[in-house]
Amino acid sequence: MKPLIVANWKMNPQNLAQAKQIFNSVKKGLEDVKSAEVVICPPFIYLPTLFDFLSRWIKSQIKLGAQNCFWEEKGAYTGEISLLMLKNFACKYVIIGHSERRGILKETNSMINKKIKAALSFGIKPILCVGEKKEEKQKEKIFVVLKSQVEQGLRKISKKEIENIIFAYEPVWAIGSGNPCSLDESHVVRLLLQKIIAQKYSRQVAQKLQILYGGSVKSSNVNGFIKDAGFQGVLVGGASLDPKEFIEIVKNAS
Ligand code: 13P
Repeated sequence: MKPLIVANWKMNPQNLAQAKQIFNSVKKGLEDVKSAEVVICPPFIYLPTLFDFLSRWIKSQIKLGAQNCFWEEKGAYTGEISLLMLKNFACKYVIIGHSERRGILKETNSMINKKIKAALSFGIKPILCVGEKKEEKQKEKIFVVLKSQVEQGLRKISKKEIENIIFAYEPVWAIGSGNPCSLDESHVVRLLLQKIIAQKYSRQVAQKLQILYGGSVKSSNVNGFIKDAGFQGVLVGGASLDPKEFIEIVKNAS
């Protein structure tokens, strides 16, 4: 399976002209790179333009994704974006439960669970983010934290549906810090996640999981997370806004 490289632009860049520039540079730089699957998750407001660019480019290796969604299809939910709307712009993936949404916007595991179920029902692959905070790591609570995020996030989700969910291990303390998780430690956590899934579902389901690593990924460390720590791809924040660096990440991941 090709590694999956997901760009999470977060609330960047600050205008459409810059978004077009980053996107076009990445698209050009990856024209001949077929060894990885690349997904770009821009802010909602740039999706229509990028969708338009992509639809005029038949050779596209790049797919679009969203950084969040709402669980209802339509109605009185001021400020929200539905999965049906995302589907209109060919979004194939949606990031759910990012630590910035859990922390700053108080998103709960129960909200995350509703979003995952809704995404699955629209055929959009959820990228479920899990990870511990610094204090939780210091108190050796990684397993407990991940277990509750996974169990509550996946409430009433079947064995069959799990195949369409991508997991992203993003230790909160590593995000935007320039200080990624070590390969040994991230490898252990990847196995812990598989154990949690094996206990909830089965060992076969756990073995097929697609798990990404996120948190200070750059071109110089991406290969280790894939080759040594065994992740199936990465979720990239800051470095995804620098086209040259992001192109290197994709190339080095392959
Ligand atoms: P950084 O790559 O900037 O650490 O961000 C990681 C992240 O939060 C991706 O979702």
